[in-house]
Amino acid sequence: MIILAFESSCDETSVAVLDVDEDHRKILSNKIATQISVHALYGGVVPEIASRAHCEAISGLCYAAIEESGVTMDQVDAVAVTYTPGLIGSLIVGVSFAKALAFSYEKPLIPVNHIKGHVAAAYLDHPELEAPFFAIVVSGGHTSMINVASPTEFIPVGRTRDDAAGEAFDKSARKLGMPYPGGAEMDRLASLGNPDAIKFPLAAIKGSLDFSFSGVKTAVVNYLHTKEMKGEEVCREDVAASFTKTVCDSIVKQLKNAYREFGYGKLVMAGGVAANSHLRNAVGNFCRNNKIKLYIPNVGLCGDNAAMIGMQGYYEFKAGVTAGLDLTAKATSGKSTL
Ligand code: KG4
Ligand code: ZN
Repeated sequence: MIILAFESSCDETSVAVLDVDEDHRKILSNKIATQISVHALYGGVVPEIASRAHCEAISGLCYAAIEESGVTMDQVDAVAVTYTPGLIGSLIVGVSFAKALAFSYEKPLIPVNHIKGHVAAAYLDHPELEAPFFAIVVSGGHTSMINVASPTEFIPVGRTRDDAAGEAFDKSARKLGMPYPGGAEMDRLASLGNPDAIKFPLAAIKGSLDFSFSGVKTAVVNYLHTKEMKGEEVCREDVAASFTKTVCDSIVKQLKNAYREFGYGKLVMAGGVAANSHLRNAVGNFCRNNKIKLYIPNVGLCGDNAAMIGMQGYYEFKAGVTAGLDLTAKATSGKSTL
Protein backbone atom coordinates (compact mmCIF):
# COMPACT_ATOMS: atom_id res chain seq x y z
CA MET A 1 0.00 0.00 0.00
CA ILE A 2 1.40 3.44 -0.95
CA ILE A 3 0.79 6.13 1.69
CA LEU A 4 1.48 9.84 1.29
CA ALA A 5 1.98 11.30 4.78
CA PHE A 6 2.13 14.81 6.27
CA GLU A 7 3.54 16.08 9.58
CA SER A 8 3.36 19.72 10.68
CA SER A 9 2.58 19.68 14.41
CA CYS A 10 5.48 21.83 15.60
CA ASP A 11 8.50 23.31 13.82
CA GLU A 12 9.25 20.73 11.12
CA THR A 13 7.24 20.43 7.93
CA SER A 14 7.59 16.89 6.63
CA VAL A 15 6.13 14.90 3.73
CA ALA A 16 6.84 11.22 3.15
CA VAL A 17 5.86 8.45 0.77
CA LEU A 18 5.79 4.91 2.15
CA ASP A 19 5.35 1.53 0.53
CA VAL A 20 4.09 -0.56 3.41
CA ASP A 21 2.34 -3.86 3.96
CA GLU A 22 2.37 -6.79 6.40
CA ASP A 23 5.67 -8.09 5.04
CA HIS A 24 7.49 -4.90 4.05
CA ARG A 25 8.04 -1.30 5.14
CA LYS A 26 9.85 0.89 2.69
CA ILE A 27 10.38 4.64 3.02
CA LEU A 28 10.38 5.89 -0.57
CA SER A 29 10.95 9.49 0.54
CA ASN A 30 10.90 11.40 3.83
CA LYS A 31 11.46 15.12 3.25
CA ILE A 32 11.86 17.42 6.24
CA ALA A 33 11.98 21.23 6.15
CA THR A 34 13.14 22.39 9.56
CA GLN A 35 12.43 25.88 10.89
CA ILE A 36 15.05 25.65 13.63
CA SER A 37 17.21 28.53 12.38
CA VAL A 38 14.21 30.91 12.39
CA HIS A 39 13.05 29.98 15.90
CA ALA A 40 16.63 29.95 17.24
CA LEU A 41 16.58 33.76 16.98
CA TYR A 42 13.86 33.78 19.66
CA GLY A 43 15.19 30.94 21.82
CA GLY A 44 12.13 28.75 21.20
CA VAL A 45 9.28 28.02 18.81
CA VAL A 46 7.12 31.07 17.95
CA PRO A 47 3.72 29.55 16.97
CA GLU A 48 2.68 32.21 14.46
CA ILE A 49 6.03 32.08 12.67
CA ALA A 50 5.81 28.27 12.65
CA SER A 51 2.37 28.30 10.96
CA ARG A 52 3.56 30.71 8.27
CA ALA A 53 6.70 28.69 7.60
CA HIS A 54 4.59 25.51 7.20
CA CYS A 55 2.40 27.35 4.67
CA GLU A 56 5.46 28.36 2.67
CA ALA A 57 7.10 24.93 2.75
CA ILE A 58 4.36 22.34 2.44
CA SER A 59 3.50 22.53 -1.25
CA GLY A 60 7.08 22.44 -2.54
CA LEU A 61 7.98 19.71 -0.08
CA CYS A 62 5.03 17.62 -1.25
CA TYR A 63 6.17 17.86 -4.87
CA ALA A 64 9.73 16.99 -3.84
CA ALA A 65 8.62 13.97 -1.78
CA ILE A 66 6.48 12.62 -4.62
CA GLU A 67 9.25 13.14 -7.14
CA GLU A 68 11.89 11.46 -5.00
CA SER A 69 9.61 8.50 -4.27
CA GLY A 70 9.18 7.70 -7.96
CA VAL A 71 5.43 7.14 -7.59
CA THR A 72 2.63 9.18 -9.12
CA MET A 73 -0.49 10.42 -7.32
CA ASP A 74 -2.47 7.72 -9.16
CA GLN A 75 -0.45 5.09 -7.32
CA VAL A 76 -1.05 6.63 -3.88
CA ASP A 77 -3.62 4.56 -1.95
CA ALA A 78 -4.23 6.94 0.96
CA VAL A 79 -3.21 10.26 2.52
CA ALA A 80 -2.23 10.31 6.23
CA VAL A 81 -1.88 13.44 8.34
CA THR A 82 -1.05 14.43 11.92
CA TYR A 83 -4.17 16.09 13.34
CA THR A 84 -3.32 16.13 17.08
CA PRO A 85 -1.57 17.07 19.42
CA GLY A 86 0.56 20.11 18.60
CA LEU A 87 0.49 23.82 17.84
CA ILE A 88 -2.97 24.52 16.46
CA GLY A 89 -1.91 26.86 13.64
CA SER A 90 0.81 24.44 12.53
CA LEU A 91 -1.53 21.44 12.62
CA ILE A 92 -4.17 23.30 10.59
CA VAL A 93 -1.71 23.81 7.72
CA GLY A 94 -0.97 20.07 7.38
CA VAL A 95 -4.59 19.02 7.90
CA SER A 96 -5.94 21.54 5.36
CA PHE A 97 -3.34 20.57 2.75
CA ALA A 98 -3.91 16.83 3.23
CA LYS A 99 -7.69 17.25 3.12
CA ALA A 100 -7.53 19.23 -0.11
CA LEU A 101 -5.24 16.65 -1.71
CA ALA A 102 -7.34 13.68 -0.56
CA PHE A 103 -10.48 15.40 -1.86
CA SER A 104 -9.10 16.39 -5.25
CA TYR A 105 -7.48 13.00 -5.93
CA GLU A 106 -10.33 11.03 -4.30
CA LYS A 107 -8.05 9.23 -1.82
CA PRO A 108 -8.98 8.06 1.68
CA LEU A 109 -7.81 10.44 4.43
CA ILE A 110 -6.25 8.93 7.58
CA PRO A 111 -6.05 11.03 10.77
CA VAL A 112 -2.95 10.23 12.85
CA ASN A 113 -2.11 11.10 16.45
CA HIS A 114 1.44 12.51 16.62
CA ILE A 115 2.40 10.51 19.74
CA LYS A 116 1.24 7.27 18.14
CA GLY A 117 3.30 8.29 15.13
CA HIS A 118 6.46 8.58 17.26
CA VAL A 119 5.91 5.03 18.52
CA ALA A 120 5.27 3.78 14.98
CA ALA A 121 8.76 4.96 13.95
CA ALA A 122 9.98 1.81 15.73
CA TYR A 123 8.13 -0.46 13.25
CA LEU A 124 10.05 1.12 10.38
CA ASP A 125 13.40 0.02 11.78
CA HIS A 126 12.14 -3.15 13.44
CA PRO A 127 9.62 -4.89 11.18
CA GLU A 128 9.55 -7.81 13.63
CA LEU A 129 8.08 -5.61 16.39
CA GLU A 130 4.52 -6.58 17.33
CA ALA A 131 2.09 -5.22 19.93
CA PRO A 132 1.43 -5.62 22.80
CA PHE A 133 4.39 -3.73 24.24
CA PHE A 134 5.18 -0.86 26.61
CA ALA A 135 6.22 2.51 25.17
CA ILE A 136 7.76 5.74 26.36
CA VAL A 137 7.65 8.82 24.14
CA VAL A 138 10.14 11.50 25.16
CA SER A 139 10.12 14.60 23.00
CA GLY A 140 10.12 18.38 23.06
CA GLY A 141 6.39 18.51 23.66
CA HIS A 142 5.57 15.19 25.30
CA THR A 143 6.66 12.66 27.90
CA SER A 144 4.20 9.77 27.90
CA MET A 145 4.27 6.19 29.13
CA ILE A 146 1.82 3.94 27.39
CA ASN A 147 0.61 0.36 27.36
CA VAL A 148 0.28 -0.33 23.63
CA ALA A 149 -2.37 -3.07 23.44
CA SER A 150 -2.47 -3.13 19.64
CA PRO A 151 -0.96 -0.82 16.99
CA THR A 152 -3.97 1.47 17.36
CA GLU A 153 -5.01 0.94 21.01
CA PHE A 154 -2.92 3.08 23.36
CA ILE A 155 -3.55 3.11 27.12
CA PRO A 156 -1.66 6.04 28.71
CA VAL A 157 -0.36 5.22 32.21
CA GLY A 158 2.07 8.07 32.90
CA ARG A 159 2.84 11.57 31.65
CA THR A 160 4.59 14.77 32.58
CA ARG A 161 2.61 17.11 34.77
CA ASP A 162 4.48 20.18 33.52
CA ASP A 163 7.49 20.42 31.16
CA ALA A 164 8.33 17.67 28.68
CA ALA A 165 11.78 16.06 28.90
CA GLY A 166 12.95 17.82 25.72
CA GLU A 167 11.71 21.15 27.01
CA ALA A 168 13.86 20.68 30.14
CA PHE A 169 16.86 19.83 27.92
CA ASP A 170 16.29 22.89 25.73
CA LYS A 171 15.72 25.32 28.61
CA SER A 172 18.74 24.07 30.58
CA ALA A 173 20.84 24.23 27.41
CA ARG A 174 19.70 27.81 26.84
CA LYS A 175 20.80 28.76 30.36
CA LEU A 176 24.19 27.25 29.52
CA GLY A 177 24.38 29.54 26.49
CA MET A 178 23.51 27.07 23.75
CA PRO A 179 21.27 27.95 20.80
CA TYR A 180 17.75 26.46 20.51
CA PRO A 181 17.17 23.52 20.52
CA GLY A 182 20.09 22.56 22.74
CA GLY A 183 19.21 18.89 23.38
CA ALA A 184 21.74 17.42 20.95
CA GLU A 185 24.49 19.79 22.11
CA MET A 186 23.75 18.90 25.77
CA ASP A 187 24.21 15.26 24.77
CA ARG A 188 27.71 16.02 23.43
CA LEU A 189 28.69 18.25 26.38
CA ALA A 190 27.43 15.71 28.93
CA SER A 191 29.92 13.16 27.59
CA LEU A 192 32.74 15.46 28.72
CA GLY A 193 31.53 16.09 32.28
CA ASN A 194 31.14 14.32 35.63
CA PRO A 195 27.56 13.07 36.02
CA ASP A 196 27.92 12.92 39.82
CA ALA A 197 29.30 16.45 40.26
CA ILE A 198 25.98 18.15 41.09
CA LYS A 199 22.85 16.72 42.72
CA PHE A 200 19.65 17.79 40.97
CA PRO A 201 16.15 16.61 42.05
CA LEU A 202 14.67 13.57 40.32
CA ALA A 203 11.74 14.19 37.97
CA ALA A 204 9.87 10.98 38.88
CA ILE A 205 6.76 11.69 40.97
CA LYS A 206 6.47 9.22 43.86
CA GLY A 207 3.43 6.95 43.97
CA SER A 208 2.65 7.44 40.29
CA LEU A 209 4.15 6.87 36.85
CA ASP A 210 4.13 10.63 36.19
CA PHE A 211 7.03 13.06 35.78
CA SER A 212 7.71 16.67 36.67
CA PHE A 213 10.68 18.07 34.75
CA SER A 214 10.17 21.69 35.78
CA GLY A 215 11.93 21.06 39.14
CA VAL A 216 15.20 19.83 37.62
CA LYS A 217 15.12 22.65 35.07
CA THR A 218 14.64 25.24 37.85
CA ALA A 219 17.41 23.58 39.88
CA VAL A 220 19.81 24.09 36.94
CA VAL A 221 18.74 27.74 36.66
CA ASN A 222 19.21 28.29 40.42
CA TYR A 223 22.58 26.53 40.42
CA LEU A 224 23.88 28.74 37.61
CA HIS A 225 22.42 31.86 39.21
CA THR A 226 24.04 31.12 42.59
CA LYS A 227 27.40 30.48 40.95
CA GLU A 228 27.13 33.78 39.09
CA MET A 229 26.19 35.71 42.26
CA LYS A 230 29.20 34.26 44.05
CA GLY A 231 31.42 34.98 41.06
CA GLU A 232 32.41 31.31 40.86
CA GLU A 233 33.41 29.46 37.69
CA VAL A 234 30.86 27.04 36.22
CA CYS A 235 31.95 23.76 34.69
CA ARG A 236 29.35 23.56 31.89
CA GLU A 237 30.27 19.94 31.14
CA ASP A 238 29.52 18.92 34.75
CA VAL A 239 26.16 20.73 34.67
CA ALA A 240 25.21 19.03 31.39
CA ALA A 241 26.37 15.61 32.65
CA SER A 242 24.62 15.93 36.03
CA PHE A 243 21.41 17.22 34.46
CA THR A 244 21.43 14.41 31.88
CA LYS A 245 22.05 11.78 34.57
CA THR A 246 19.10 13.15 36.58
CA VAL A 247 16.81 12.92 33.53
CA CYS A 248 18.04 9.39 32.71
CA ASP A 249 17.68 8.22 36.34
CA SER A 250 14.15 9.67 36.49
CA ILE A 251 13.07 7.91 33.30
CA VAL A 252 14.65 4.58 34.28
CA LYS A 253 13.03 4.84 37.72
CA GLN A 254 9.55 5.21 36.20
CA LEU A 255 10.25 2.46 33.65
CA LYS A 256 11.19 0.21 36.60
CA ASN A 257 7.99 1.12 38.44
CA ALA A 258 5.97 0.44 35.30
CA TYR A 259 7.79 -2.88 34.86
CA ARG A 260 6.86 -3.84 38.43
CA GLU A 261 3.24 -2.98 37.69
CA PHE A 262 2.85 -4.39 34.17
CA GLY A 263 5.76 -6.81 33.72
CA TYR A 264 6.29 -5.95 30.05
CA GLY A 265 8.73 -7.94 27.90
CA LYS A 266 9.10 -5.40 25.08
CA LEU A 267 9.79 -1.67 25.33
CA VAL A 268 9.70 1.00 22.63
CA MET A 269 11.42 4.31 23.34
CA ALA A 270 10.69 7.04 20.78
CA GLY A 271 10.58 10.83 20.30
CA GLY A 272 13.31 13.44 19.79
CA VAL A 273 14.94 12.85 23.22
CA ALA A 274 15.23 9.11 22.45
CA ALA A 275 18.17 10.24 20.27
CA ASN A 276 20.11 11.04 23.47
CA SER A 277 23.09 8.69 23.71
CA HIS A 278 23.15 8.65 27.54
CA LEU A 279 19.44 7.85 27.71
CA ARG A 280 19.83 5.09 25.11
CA ASN A 281 22.60 3.59 27.27
CA ALA A 282 20.72 3.93 30.56
CA VAL A 283 17.50 2.42 29.20
CA GLY A 284 19.55 -0.20 27.32
CA ASN A 285 21.18 -1.30 30.60
CA PHE A 286 17.85 -1.43 32.41
CA CYS A 287 16.36 -3.59 29.64
CA ARG A 288 19.37 -5.92 29.51
CA ASN A 289 19.23 -6.45 33.29
CA ASN A 290 15.55 -7.34 33.11
CA LYS A 291 15.63 -9.29 29.83
CA ILE A 292 13.32 -6.78 28.17
CA LYS A 293 13.64 -6.45 24.39
CA LEU A 294 14.27 -2.78 23.58
CA TYR A 295 13.25 -1.10 20.32
CA ILE A 296 14.47 2.43 19.57
CA PRO A 297 14.10 4.01 16.13
CA ASN A 298 17.37 5.10 14.50
CA VAL A 299 18.32 8.66 15.42
CA GLY A 300 17.03 10.01 12.07
CA LEU A 301 13.52 8.74 12.84
CA CYS A 302 13.39 9.86 16.51
CA GLY A 303 12.59 13.50 15.74
CA ASP A 304 9.45 14.70 13.98
CA ASN A 305 9.08 13.24 10.47
CA ALA A 306 6.24 12.20 8.18
CA ALA A 307 7.46 8.61 7.63
CA MET A 308 6.41 7.72 11.18
CA ILE A 309 2.98 9.29 10.50
CA GLY A 310 2.63 7.19 7.34
CA MET A 311 3.57 4.05 9.28
CA GLN A 312 0.93 4.71 11.96
CA GLY A 313 -1.46 5.72 9.18
CA TYR A 314 -1.09 2.22 7.73
CA TYR A 315 -2.23 0.62 11.01
CA GLU A 316 -5.08 3.11 11.46
CA PHE A 317 -6.27 2.40 7.90
CA LYS A 318 -6.13 -1.35 8.52
CA ALA A 319 -8.21 -0.82 11.66
CA GLY A 320 -10.79 1.07 9.57
CA VAL A 321 -9.92 4.56 10.79
CA THR A 322 -10.46 7.19 8.10
CA ALA A 323 -11.71 10.75 8.30
CA GLY A 324 -14.13 12.85 6.29
CA LEU A 325 -13.55 16.37 5.10
CA ASP A 326 -14.87 17.57 8.47
CA LEU A 327 -11.56 16.48 10.08
CA THR A 328 -10.27 19.28 12.30
CA ALA A 329 -6.91 19.82 13.96
CA LYS A 330 -6.86 19.51 17.76
CA ALA A 331 -4.16 21.13 19.90
CA THR A 332 -4.51 18.54 22.68
CA SER A 333 -5.62 14.95 22.45
CA GLY A 334 -6.73 14.63 26.08
CA LYS A 335 -4.99 13.27 29.16
CA SER A 336 -6.56 9.85 29.41
CA THR A 337 -7.03 8.95 25.75
CA LEU A 338 -4.87 9.05 22.68
O1 KG4 B 1 10.15 14.66 18.74
P1 KG4 B 1 10.69 16.02 18.47
O2 KG4 B 1 11.41 16.26 17.16
O3 KG4 B 1 9.58 17.11 18.56
C1 KG4 B 1 8.47 17.05 19.41
O4 KG4 B 1 7.51 16.30 19.12
O5 KG4 B 1 8.54 17.76 20.44
O6 KG4 B 1 11.66 16.35 19.69
C2 KG4 B 1 12.44 17.50 19.73
C3 KG4 B 1 13.17 17.53 21.07
C4 KG4 B 1 13.89 18.85 21.33
O7 KG4 B 1 13.57 19.25 22.64
C5 KG4 B 1 15.36 18.48 21.18
O8 KG4 B 1 16.24 19.28 21.96
C6 KG4 B 1 15.35 17.07 21.69
O9 KG4 B 1 14.18 16.51 21.10
N1 KG4 B 1 16.55 16.32 21.29
C7 KG4 B 1 17.44 15.83 22.17
C8 KG4 B 1 18.46 15.22 21.41
N2 KG4 B 1 18.15 15.35 20.08
C9 KG4 B 1 16.98 16.03 20.03
N3 KG4 B 1 17.46 15.86 23.52
C10 KG4 B 1 18.49 15.28 24.13
N4 KG4 B 1 19.51 14.67 23.48
C11 KG4 B 1 19.54 14.61 22.13
N5 KG4 B 1 20.55 13.99 21.49
ZN1 ZN C 1 7.20 14.94 18.04
